[in-house]
Amino acid sequence: MRRHEWVPLDVIVRRANMPEKDVLYRLKRLNKFEFVVRSTYGYAVSGMGYDALALNALYKKGILKAIGNKLGVGKEGDVYLVLLNDDREAVLKFHKHGKTCFTRSKRYRDYLADKHHISWLYVSRLSAEREYNILNELFPLVKVPEPIAWNRHAIILGKVEGEELKRIDLEKFLTKDEIKKLFYDVVEEIKKAYDIGYIHGDLSEFNILYNGEDFVIIDWPQAIEKYHPEADFYLKRDIHNVCRYFKKYKIDIDENKIFKYVKGIE
Ligand SMILES: Nc1ncnc2c1ncn2[C@@H]1O[C@H](COP(=O)(O)OP(=O)(O)O)[C@@H](O)[C@H]1O
Ligand SMILES: [Mg+2]
Repeated sequence: MRRHEWVPLDVIVRRANMPEKDVLYRLKRLNKFEFVVRSTYGYAVSGMGYDALALNALYKKGILKAIGNKLGVGKEGDVYLVLLNDDREAVLKFHKHGKTCFTRSKRYRDYLADKHHISWLYVSRLSAEREYNILNELFPLVKVPEPIAWNRHAIILGKVEGEELKRIDLEKFLTKDEIKKLFYDVVEEIKKAYDIGYIHGDLSEFNILYNGEDFVIIDWPQAIEKYHPEADFYLKRDIHNVCRYFKKYKIDIDENKIFKYVKGIE
């Protein structure tokens, strides 16, 4: 499917190295389970089929043991609670690009402009790989989830206890000084990520999980290298979003000063 939106039957027969009637039999069954969809042009794997391929691979590699409840439906994918082979709880995130969010996947399209056909499948896989690699560079130096495994459009991450800042009223259990400290701790993580080379790119109270004591910054697939020509724009926007959230608690913040601090310029 990297080359075809719909894979013609003869291509599948050639790749499967099986008689056509056997291939047709299997495709029919996969279609019945809704793992494969068909059109007059050929066949395509469905979202569910791609999920199944990733789960199967992670299971066969001896990483994944069981899959549990859905933790949430994010902007671009679904997140599930999972059990690893070593009985540790973790989180599995399926990246699903090109379906709901135009602006974010557009960036991937720019960067794939040389490819003829870009399937949502390939873009989702790239996005998962990218988030996994970035987390590997950041963890454990920056407060981000532990990257555990990656296959196709799925990544397995360490489970973070906590809720999105968006859903918490900090004033209920923190003093103003403690809220201020939390703000500067978040700034410190932005700076650490920047020093390693990344700007989050979608930072806000939705992507910071807080458990009353500590926090973790999640959701990194769109992160931007600090040498990107528009890096300053994204860094300013991230800082602005965080400041906007904390200003609601009447914390006195100079955004420009924070920006300079993160960049390391006085
Ligand atoms: N490592 C994690 N531990 C616990 N919950 C998580 C973790 N990663 C994501 N989640 C939950 O899933 C939601 C969506 O994940 P996120 O990475 O932000 O993806 P999206 O791009 O869909 O926003 C988060 O808001 C959070 O509630
Ligand atoms: Mg998110």
